[in-house]
Amino acid sequence: MTAYNVDGIVLAQHVLSQDIRLMEIEAPAIAKNAQPGQFVTVRMNHLTMPLLRRPFGVAAVDRAAGTFQLMYRIVGEATELMAALPAGSAINVLGPLGHGFALDGVKHALLVGGGVGLAPLHFLASALPKDSVDVVVGGRTAAELFWTDLFRDKTAKQFETTDDGTKGVKGTVNAVVPDLVKSGAYDRVYVCGPSPMMKAVVAVVEPTKIPCQISLEKYMGCGLGACLSCSCGGLGKRLKVCKDGPVFWSQEVTEW
Ligand code: FES
Repeated sequence: MTAYNVDGIVLAQHVLSQDIRLMEIEAPAIAKNAQPGQFVTVRMNHLTMPLLRRPFGVAAVDRAAGTFQLMYRIVGEATELMAALPAGSAINVLGPLGHGFALDGVKHALLVGGGVGLAPLHFLASALPKDSVDVVVGGRTAAELFWTDLFRDKTAKQFETTDDGTKGVKGTVNAVVPDLVKSGAYDRVYVCGPSPMMKAVVAVVEPTKIPCQISLEKYMGCGLGACLSCSCGGLGKRLKVCKDGPVFWSQEVTEW
């Protein structure tokens, strides 16, 4: 698939929580071609530092308007600089990159996510019929469950968990996932979030034989398969998350 290197325009930034932002970017080539699960790398044009491009999963597209969305957590210098970009700023975007989610033949999907891992699942949900998708939204505390509102018009049912029990079921997403996957209602599970969460969900889903896809988040140097900084263990070979993924079938990845 073709990747485009374009200068996009920041149209708006929205505050989703204390440290999570939604950036809306006008970049028609990206909006037209991005598929759920793919990512882009960005670089801020007006800065000489930081030099490295940063990867972000595409969170939504509006193909008619030629725009797409990123949802990102402010965790360091680069994302602080991103958050400070005013509307009208240019931002260099390379993408869409990687392999996205497999959607063929899915009748009823369960999406399981935590933190900004819910961003690519948000794009995925909008690509499937609403009645065929449920989502489990996990967070540390109630303030992190704003995601549920973002999924409400894209999913039939929303299940919530918080580590501290301030909203939804107390515990991790696995406080609800085991009963859901044993219910027989689902023929596909998609998971994205912190590695320990994804491993725990995969451990519950694999015995049920429901096909499960995971979207890995790894440090990425180049995003293009050239530097090996994103490698993880696969069946008999090393995998590059940026090139072979970031979405994999759960059995494909042996060490992550
Ligand atoms: Fe360089 Fe994947 S980020 S090989």
